[in-house]
Amino acid sequence: MKSPINVVILAAGLGTRMKSKRAKVLHRAGGLTLIEHVVHASTGIAPASNITVVVGTQTERVKAALAHFGVRFAEQREQKGTGHALLMCRDALASQSGLVVVLYGDGPLLSRATLQELVDRQAAGHAAATLITTRLDDPTGYGRIILGSHGEVQAIVEQKAATPEQLAIPQINSGIYCFRAELLWEHISEIRPDNPAHEYYLTDIVEILNRGGHKVAAFEVSDSRELLGINTRAELAAVDRIFRERKVQELMLDGVTIEKPETVTIDCAVRIAADTVVAPFAQILGRTEIGEDCRIGACSIIENSKLASRVEVLPFTSIADSEVEAEARIGPFARLRGGNRVGTRAHIGNFVELKNTQFGAGAKASHLAYLGDAEIGEKTNIGAGTITCNYDGVDKHRTRIGKEAFVGSNATLVAPIEIGDGSYIGAGSVITDPVPAEALALGRGRQVIKEGWTAKRKKKK
Ligand code: UD1
Ligand code: MG
Repeated sequence: MKSPINVVILAAGLGTRMKSKRAKVLHRAGGLTLIEHVVHASTGIAPASNITVVVGTQTERVKAALAHFGVRFAEQREQKGTGHALLMCRDALASQSGLVVVLYGDGPLLSRATLQELVDRQAAGHAAATLITTRLDDPTGYGRIILGSHGEVQAIVEQKAATPEQLAIPQINSGIYCFRAELLWEHISEIRPDNPAHEYYLTDIVEILNRGGHKVAAFEVSDSRELLGINTRAELAAVDRIFRERKVQELMLDGVTIEKPETVTIDCAVRIAADTVVAPFAQILGRTEIGEDCRIGACSIIENSKLASRVEVLPFTSIADSEVEAEARIGPFARLRGGNRVGTRAHIGNFVELKNTQFGAGAKASHLAYLGDAEIGEKTNIGAGTITCNYDGVDKHRTRIGKEAFVGSNATLVAPIEIGDGSYIGAGSVITDPVPAEALALGRGRQVIKEGWTAKRKKKK
């Protein structure tokens, strides 16, 4: 029978070296918080109900970031070190046999496959624990692994406590371990804060287990990038870059064309279908989904939005929290601010802003308009300079325009207002009263002509 697996993720520290008000695990790489990446990898080896995250800095915010996973939490009120953080889970977990996988919340690149292999190796062998290691060209900052003649781990020495010879060791402690549960919980309280930092180092557990006659095995992985831990902003940027590179590679292998891939930013959770083209410097963020045969123009930013197939987004367009149906054309320089739905084959042109607006199939707003809290019917034409006056200084009001209407240039539509199907609004009108279907509405001063006016003016002088 397979051993039950519990996962503990240590995430209670502030992360002093980040020099930030925000807890380190809440910083983002690849568009997700560091802790979300680590929990995501962990769900590959254990159900969420067997994953415990140790929290202690900005506890509520960390819990909120992870709410959708359904994991458990343990609290470490004072940050006395990684050994102390793990101890906070003992009461809840010590009664369960099997394996305990321990990870740190600041190592977001770890793959599910590597974690699974760690578990498989530990389950197949006789060691008390197995830990993941790799060789780094520059191991500065990491704990170093002291190996015995049979490849077993004798000790982990932290950077601060290491001798010059030990500092030259390239094998580092990744901070990813798999323990036999009963041995871990039996020995964890033997960790002492007897180091220059006066912290309870989890890494001391290796020597403690060895002293008790229990072996600790090392599992060396060749792709050291997976194990990078983040302690500084520079390391955060380096890891973010790896996520970006991975994402564009994955999308290109799935049939997405990405022009100058080194310039685009595509978050991990984004989905894009085949034959879509992403132009240089585009940013596609959050949980955006894009269908087939779309084109995302240069320097456009699309966030948490859904685009159907064959949508064309022209350069410098910003789309947030909106839905766009097939074959619509948006931009250049358009802004969809949130809560919009743009219908099939609709056209939104340059300097058009939409907020909370349902824009009908085949409708057009080709230039310079603000459409807020509005419903625009199918095939209606919105002229340049049209403004929905949706806000009276206190409340927002809706504008409803029927289908196949024609709103002339520079119309000012004072909401709440209804404009019927097939109606015409004269250019430059201020519309304050409902317009029936098929009617022409004019709301502007009449033009006056004074013949010979210029000559008379000159004579007066
Ligand atoms: C740790 C390891 C080091 C390893 C490196 C890998 C120890 C003593 N050292 O060092 O051997 O090479 O990770 O990246 O374990 N945390 C708590 N409570 C605490 C302290 C830390 O929950 O009291 C959490 C932090 O939030 C963080 C994780 O533990 O997510 C690791 O802490 P960090 O301070 O980053 O340890 P490193 O110095 O990187
Ligand atoms: Mg760290």
